[in-house]
Amino acid sequence: MSEQALALEKTMTLKVNGQTAEVTAMADTPLLLVLRNDLHLNGPKYGCGLGECGACTVIIDGLAARSCVFPVSGAQGREITTLEGIGSRECPHPVQQAFIDEQAAQCGYCMNGMIMTAKALLDRIPNPSEAQIRNELSANLCRCGTHIEILRAVLRAARQKS
Ligand code: FES
Ligand code: FES
Repeated sequence: MSEQALALEKTMTLKVNGQTAEVTAMADTPLLLVLRNDLHLNGPKYGCGLGECGACTVIIDGLAARSCVFPVSGAQGREITTLEGIGSRECPHPVQQAFIDEQAAQCGYCMNGMIMTAKALLDRIPNPSEAQIRNELSANLCRCGTHIEILRAVLRAARQKS
């Protein structure tokens, strides 16, 4: 990195999955890159990098957000939740468990974004209609075409929550 670029970097404090972390980056660096490269949180995936596919979705202050187009400086002082913050292999979040039960994943690349988007929806609307789920997930792309299983998984998670 050039000296000029280094001079433009600044240290910022992020709150991720309930913990604070200091990162040094340029203000407009995509949050996704900081999460993956600096904080080693690989739940959010790099898909399109253009805000179009949803693979990079995290939850910021309760709302699903596309971290590939979200500048890290804008995330300061806000509650950021990644896939790692909602459940684990040993103790999956109910939404994760529903995706497993409905065998929603093929390659699994879209799953981070689908699960985080679904979680944000269910936190806001615990018992959404099928139309609301379809609408919420409509901009999350699954290249393997498992949208029907994903819809079933979100419906299952909603039933279990309510
Ligand atoms: S990688 Fe962010 S929306 Fe596609
Ligand atoms: S399961 Fe492969 S992209 Fe969705």
